[in-house]
Amino acid sequence: MNSPVTLSRHGDIALLRIDNPPVNALSPGVVAGLVAAIDAFEADASYKALLLHGEGRTFVAGGDISSFDLPDFTTQPFNGTLARIEALGRPVVAALHGTVLGGGLELALACHWRVAHPKTQLGLPEVKLGILPGSLGTQRLPRVVGAELALDLIASGRSIGAAEARELGLVDELSDAAPLQAGIAFTEALLARGAGPRRISERMVATESLAPDFFERALADAARRKPFHPSARNIVRAVQASLLPFAEGEAAEARLFEELRVSPESKAMRHLFFAERLASKIPGLPRDTTLRPVRSVGVLGAGTMGGGIAMNFANAGIPTVLVETSQAALDRGLGIIRANYEASAAKGRLTTEQVEARMALLRGSLDDAALADCDLVIEAVFENMDLKKQVCARLGAVCKPGAIIATNTSTLDVDVLAEATGRPADVVGMHFFSPANVMRLLEVVRGAKTAPEVLATVMQLARTIGKVAVVSGVCYGFIGNRMAEVYMREAEFLMMEGASPAQIDGAVEALGMAMGPCRMLDMAGIDVGAKTVIEYGKAGGLPPDDSYRAVVRKMFELGRFGQKTGAGYYRYDGRKPVDDPETARIAAELAAQHGIARRDDIPPQEIVERLLYPLINEGARILEEGIAYRPGDIDMVWVAGYGFPDHRGGPVHMADAIGLPQIAGRLAHYANTRGNPHGYWSISPLLASLAAQGKRLSDWQAA
Ligand code: 3HC
Ligand code: NAI
Repeated sequence: MNSPVTLSRHGDIALLRIDNPPVNALSPGVVAGLVAAIDAFEADASYKALLLHGEGRTFVAGGDISSFDLPDFTTQPFNGTLARIEALGRPVVAALHGTVLGGGLELALACHWRVAHPKTQLGLPEVKLGILPGSLGTQRLPRVVGAELALDLIASGRSIGAAEARELGLVDELSDAAPLQAGIAFTEALLARGAGPRRISERMVATESLAPDFFERALADAARRKPFHPSARNIVRAVQASLLPFAEGEAAEARLFEELRVSPESKAMRHLFFAERLASKIPGLPRDTTLRPVRSVGVLGAGTMGGGIAMNFANAGIPTVLVETSQAALDRGLGIIRANYEASAAKGRLTTEQVEARMALLRGSLDDAALADCDLVIEAVFENMDLKKQVCARLGAVCKPGAIIATNTSTLDVDVLAEATGRPADVVGMHFFSPANVMRLLEVVRGAKTAPEVLATVMQLARTIGKVAVVSGVCYGFIGNRMAEVYMREAEFLMMEGASPAQIDGAVEALGMAMGPCRMLDMAGIDVGAKTVIEYGKAGGLPPDDSYRAVVRKMFELGRFGQKTGAGYYRYDGRKPVDDPETARIAAELAAQHGIARRDDIPPQEIVERLLYPLINEGARILEEGIAYRPGDIDMVWVAGYGFPDHRGGPVHMADAIGLPQIAGRLAHYANTRGNPHGYWSISPLLASLAAQGKRLSDWQAA
């Protein structure tokens, strides 16, 4: 088999080429290839220098994440190789380009010299996988940039550009030339001036400017800000160890790395890394499907969602027109967008020129003829079927042939709207989450007649605007809101039974949920939630149960719309939610009305099970109905759209960690103890059968 690493000659220079597409990850094969290449280099004294470079789009983007689960995984072979590279008696140069990340940067730091293309990005993003740089990154980086900056870079996982790296001394020279040419020119110049090896491990970390309690404070800070991520603490300890002699720091890093690699938190985060990438792939659709060009976008409705949606495209440099029904609505919508950009500028995230450049890409109109030239039009008008059908019929007539027509509906039937346009093949759901310019998730709803290239175009466009796109089939609420509905159902039953919103939220926030269900709906708007329930009732979707979502309906009736009106499930002291005796009174009154028994001792464990197990059960139904392509898609929806904790890997991953028999058992328990007249606790056949077979939900694949 051909090795991904080859050694060739250019005059006196040995060229070590790494060629392991797509990103030259450090697979066991690459590591073995490096060892063989170094053997060959050492054996040939006619070489005066060694130059490492990567083939294709990047140098090396890191360790091979897929190999971390191998039973015999160890960093030892690679780390030993790095030690050999650094110890070489002839100069070793790394020619960098692309994304020099993780093990890639660690490899570069073991080399004596580094030359980089100006567009190179460098970083140690391991924290995003719940681990730390385990190939001496925590030891070598502080020796170059100091402990404080090294900790910042490793703990945040952020990348820096080549120019900054050059200023920091991480890179010795920038060159616009192709990486190999740049490397050769740099190495020849080194040899000409007789420069030799230079070893970072022989340096000391500068400590003069370090406060005596720096690490103690950093550790306390990590524990406070990232209580669910052991990586945050281990990273501080590893960087602290860089103050020790190199070999001692190396041993500390190895121990701290291994602790994290085998941790459930890191396994969950690695699962999400691959789930995110898989979600963008559409089964049966070739990767080279011809896409429709999207050079201009139209958005109908400049309300809460329309404005945020338009910002995504302006941010990506795509001209966008917003169409409204009145000048006042248009002015308000554009005004909010400007205020958002200016707030970002005030925080230093945008320059004034960038604000103006983005605003210049946004145009308003009261005439839908302005949409005629757009390649993609997204409707974001009120959530009302009759209105949306009218709007879709109009879009079908106005939009040019080949234009994509998308709906941002949260719950309505995309197939009905698609038919209303008269050109259903052009129609797709683009379900953004609020605030649409911030939330990473985009549910892409595939209608029965959506053309494959329309789906593929929208998935690609999602990447362009920085979203995580997940495909959903057509059903009430798609993947996310359908699962959220059963979660909210139980939150409200628990409230009527006597739990306070703070107890309910507290139980799941203790697991790491960014926000419990009550705070979430108060923020999104009780009115938005109630209207959806009411509309669904009109469409015949609700169970014949008057107590179903009775709290949200009552709150809506009372004008308690959540944060925006100062009261919803909670009362608001500014933006701070406080328990409201009025909510307790409303819940008690509803309980009496619907014959629901009250308790004042609902344990957190019951709250967790009653919120999350039905949600997981609904996820299993979504899989067996073919609404989601794969289990990981559900996890991505919940992590990117609903603040589900990444260290638990999403609801499906979490279900597998708990064990399906346990979940099935508890669903049966609640069916027995609470009664099951409306099927709330009926177990999904898929979940039941996997539990019985001792299998995991994440192993499930569509037939
Ligand atoms: N290991 C294994 N596969 C990887 C990988 C890695 N480090 N990095 C990327 N890939 C794969 C992806 O899974 C994807 O595969 P697919 O085509 O089959 O879906 C393919 O490479 C392309 O990746 P992207 O779709 O993400 O391509 P982009 O161009 O959008 O991004 C990237 C490229 C910036 C390199 C991005 O992939 C990335 O951030 N990769 C992870 C980088 C990272 O975390 N490095 C540290 C790894 S851990 C480590 O080094 C441990 C060491 O300290 C011991
Ligand atoms: P909104 O009420 O804030 O905005 C709707 C806007 O549409 C208003 O400005 C209105 O003037 C305009 N409009 C109404 N009819 C129009 C027409 N014929 N032509 C042009 N403009 C028209 O509503 P919001 O919250 O932005 O919701 C819009 C859509 O987004 C709905 O389908 C909703 O379900 C969906 N959605 C809402 C989310 C939320 O959290 N608010 C989240 C995800 C989706």
